[in-house]
Amino acid sequence: MIRPDIRRPRAARRRYIGALALLALLLSACSGSGPQTALEPASEIANDINNLWLLVFWVATVVFVLVEAALVYAVWKFREREGDDRRPKQSHGNTALEITWTIIPAVLLAVITVPMLQGLFEMREVPTGPDVLHINVTGHQWWWEFEYVDEKAPDGRTLVTANELHIPADRPVYLTMTSADVIHSFWIPKLNGKRDVVPGRISHLNLRSDSMGELAAAGEDRMADGSFLFLGQCAEFCGLAHADMRVRAFVHDSGGYRAWVDSQLAPVEASGSGWDTFTVVCTACHQSTVLQDGEIVTVGPDRFVEVDGVTFRSSLAPNLTHFGGRTSLGSATFENDTEHLTRWIDNPADLKPMDPDRNDIPAGRILGMPDFGLNVGEIADLVALLQSWK
Ligand code: CUA
Repeated sequence: MIRPDIRRPRAARRRYIGALALLALLLSACSGSGPQTALEPASEIANDINNLWLLVFWVATVVFVLVEAALVYAVWKFREREGDDRRPKQSHGNTALEITWTIIPAVLLAVITVPMLQGLFEMREVPTGPDVLHINVTGHQWWWEFEYVDEKAPDGRTLVTANELHIPADRPVYLTMTSADVIHSFWIPKLNGKRDVVPGRISHLNLRSDSMGELAAAGEDRMADGSFLFLGQCAEFCGLAHADMRVRAFVHDSGGYRAWVDSQLAPVEASGSGWDTFTVVCTACHQSTVLQDGEIVTVGPDRFVEVDGVTFRSSLAPNLTHFGGRTSLGSATFENDTEHLTRWIDNPADLKPMDPDRNDIPAGRILGMPDFGLNVGEIADLVALLQSWK
């Protein structure tokens, strides 16, 4: 026999959980806008995708309402009645009906295909002209590497950064992408549709944000320097830290973009006890371009991968030149502040699920930054050094 005092709380809990689930479902409808919604496009391509989705949504809604109405009507009208056991009229083999319900979906699909193909061709169009900005992108477990192949310092160095993409507003940006390890997917929902990056292959993404005026009118998130911030996310499961393989895009006016490029191409200062630790520990994987005894030097390993005639950077870890100027760390997952940076250097796998024990530097397989067992003083010095690299 089941004792009532045990049964009742269980039933109550089940009801409570059921009610909570319903409430959550209901509330999800009024969550408003999220930073990663594809329903508030901020670029031409994202806008095309959104329009296509709206078309499909309304077509599907009309079909749903009509079909459900017919179903409910039929269930009610032809319900079983007492004393009436006649066999219902059978309609299979009705040629007119079958032709009708074959033609209607075919027409609907044809209607949807037109804007879909238009959008696909537009997305795949290679932008031309002198104002196209070319950026090479390499996806890594679990971060994004960006090389601005058009932006060069006087000594020929290209601009290399990680996880935070800066682009000028309303200018064609052409991303040429590959992966260093497994399949990832580059996705900034307000700016572009998902595009996979695949090891050994090249994929492209055509990115052109709306103008600064349009972004301001749309009320997009704005930084103190006037740029607009867009959040993105790797959209293809790629291992332990897939959910923390994020990306931030900053859209500047042309002056703001130029200023950012110039600041990024300048070397940073190499000095202090933090620098000693940096050269002993960090430069095994990370690169940085510094001014040392009046000379510009890039420390850390230079690694590349060749895919279909295109040379991509395939660094072991993010380039840290101007790290202090970034807003985030850990692939745009944490705010770049003293607390997070200290914890990150102390033991990165504490902040983000990674598997550094399986790193294989010669093979180029890095599954996260290890805990180097640095003491409190060494960590504080490194934090100070990195924060000074604005
Ligand atoms: Cu990279 Cu998921």
